[in-house]
Order: sequence, then structure tokens, then C-alpha cells
Amino acid sequence: MPVINWNLPKMVSKAYAPLFTSNKRYIVYKGSRGSGKSESAARKAILDIVTKPYVNWLILRRYANTNRQSTFTLLQKVATQLGVSGLFQFNSSLPEITYKPTGQKILFRGADKPLSITSISVETGNLCRLWVEESYQLESEEAFDVVDESMRGVIDDPNGFY
Ligand SMILES: Nc1ncnc2c1ncn2[C@@H]1O[C@H](COP(=O)(O)OP(=O)(O)O)[C@@H](O)[C@H]1O
Ligand SMILES: [Mg+2]
Repeated sequence: MPVINWNLPKMVSKAYAPLFTSNKRYIVYKGSRGSGKSESAARKAILDIVTKPYVNWLILRRYANTNRQSTFTLLQKVATQLGVSGLFQFNSSLPEITYKPTGQKILFRGADKPLSITSISVETGNLCRLWVEESYQLESEEAFDVVDESMRGVIDDPNGFY
């Protein structure tokens, strides 16, 4: 197993440190375009998958097709920058990203298809991380609540959290 040499302070700017250190259920970032929100979330997603075997991610956006064009592509780029893209399988037609050593998943959904969200299950660990990209675009809080409420249940890892 190769050693991954990650320097967290170099990977993200200070404003995004809580994203990497907090165990809180909800973290919200707002800020001008290009201020690093999406990049930092992508780094968090990749780092969590590699370092926490219980973690699977759901990435939600208003529309499934914009999710594919933005977050899926960004995660590919960030995994390459972090030197771990070879550990992931990127299926752009689903879209879906699999961490090859364990089968952990990064899944993508659009709030335009709410039924596709409530029926998700993962092969290993828990579906315990949700990244809502451009959350202001969601038309109602209900769309968020449906997904939020599906994020529950016992996490096997004693340090695990939602
Ligand atoms: N370590 C880093 N963290 C965040 N963004 C970075 C980093 N290094 C370079 N960038 C660049 O800064 C910009 C951040 O944009 P983005 O994450 O899309 O911002 P936002 O989502 O807030 O609009 C991108 O052009 C990205 O390539
Ligand atoms: Mg963004």
C-alpha cells in the first residue's frame, strides 16, 4: 500500500478548516463565486473516503444533469491533484465514483428526482455524508429534509458521525 503524503493546511485555506475538523451535522458555506467552496467540499469528500472506511457520500444538486457537469468533474480533477485518482473508478454515465480498495461510493442525485434519493443503499459502511452543491437553488426546504431524514441509523465506526 503506497503512503499518501497529504498536507491538510496546504490542501485547503483556513476558512475551510472546520469542514475538516468539525463533527457537527450541518456546515454551511456562502461566499462569492470562486471563493473555493466547491473545491474545498471536493477535497473533503475525497479525503473522507480514503481516511474513513465507513464513509459514503451523496452529492445533491437541484438538477441531476448539472451535478454531473460540475461536482463529478470536479471530484475527478481533485482526486488527480491529490494523487489518488488511480484508487477510484469514475463511472460518468451513472454517474458514480467507487473507491476501489473497499467499494465505498460517491453517489450523485438531483433534487428533480426525489424518489431516486430515498431508496439509496451502499455496499459497505454508511451513507452518512451529504454535500448539497449550490443549495440556494433548491426550491423548497422539503427537498432537503427528505434527504436529511434518510441520513440516520447506527454507524458501526465508534467515531463515526453524520
Ligand atoms: N486549495 C484550493 N482550495 C480551493 N480552491 C482552489 C485551491 N487551489 C486552487 N483553487 C482554485 O480556486 C477556485 C475556487 O473555485 P470554486 O471552488 O469553484 O469556488 P466556489 O465554489 O466558491 O464558487 C478554482 O478556480 C480553483 O481551481
Ligand atoms: Mg461552487
